[in-house]
Amino acid sequence: MPDRFRLDGRVAVVTGAAGVIGSATIKLLAARGARIVAVDRDEKQLLAAIRDLPAQAEAYPLTADVTQENEVAHYVRATMDKFGAVDVFYNNAGIEGDITPIVRYSLQTFRRVLDVNVVGVFLGMKHVLPVMLKQDRGSIINTASIAGLIGSPDIPAYTASKHAVIGLTKTAAIECTGTQVRVNCVCPGLIDSRMLSAIVEGRNPGNAPVPNEKIVDRTPARRLGLASEVASVVAFLASDEASYVTGSAYTVDGGRTTA
Ligand SMILES: NC(=O)c1ccc[n+]([C@@H]2O[C@H](COP(=O)([O-])OP(=O)(O)OC[C@H]3O[C@@H](n4cnc5c(N)ncnc54)[C@H](O)[C@@H]3O)[C@@H](O)[C@H]2O)c1
Repeated sequence: MPDRFRLDGRVAVVTGAAGVIGSATIKLLAARGARIVAVDRDEKQLLAAIRDLPAQAEAYPLTADVTQENEVAHYVRATMDKFGAVDVFYNNAGIEGDITPIVRYSLQTFRRVLDVNVVGVFLGMKHVLPVMLKQDRGSIINTASIAGLIGSPDIPAYTASKHAVIGLTKTAAIECTGTQVRVNCVCPGLIDSRMLSAIVEGRNPGNAPVPNEKIVDRTPARRLGLASEVASVVAFLASDEASYVTGSAYTVDGGRTTA
């Protein structure tokens, strides 16, 4: 029986590939046999992420800003030129913005967060979906967050943006009705990462570091998640094993949003 988790020969485009979750995900997708197109605006970190992959991995870096339509169109076109298909699209680049309540939040930053987290996700799907619909095959996974499911103080733009990602995901899934293209999103919780540290520090400026036990006190798993644990769910959604899964928002949060 074929292993439906395997991704042998599949072409996977991953944005935010230089980041904590993106780099863990390209590692796992490559280990499952996918050919990787790794997209990020940070060229130096992107090359470091590619260097970190096992020697036999087939991975190509492409520097692009996901908010610029011409750059998004270019990374899709470059993938088609190189591989002739996009089978998996992990639409993952994102920023946290400022860590400040609404009354002090700058309009400029609010717009910037929506630009990267919402417009970037929209543009990615706008340019990848025609390819996948033509192939009549493909899996898109967007990165939302538990901040897309519940309110979260001091990160208003981020919270609004991640709610929007879930809405875009469901809309895209419906627009793919009757095709073999699936669209889902993941909602990571408190992942051990630079972004989480920035949010925790922003909420506790000038104070001693907040111990992990305090950060996870409302998380049933009683620990932070690992980027590799998000990657596992992304790799599942990318695979044929998830053939009946579309329009879903998968929490990877140790139960944080259950109560
Ligand atoms: N870390 C967490 O706890 C957590 C929890 C829930 C959701 N998320 C989401 O997961 C995704 C990845 O987060 P992470 O923790 O790996 O963060 P990260 O900051 O380590 O990685 C994000 C990557 O996106 C890239 N990026 C940012 N703006 C870009 C742009 N305009 N164009 C191209 N690339 C751009 C950055 O260069 C970076 O490499 C984000 O969407 C984030 O919102 C993270």
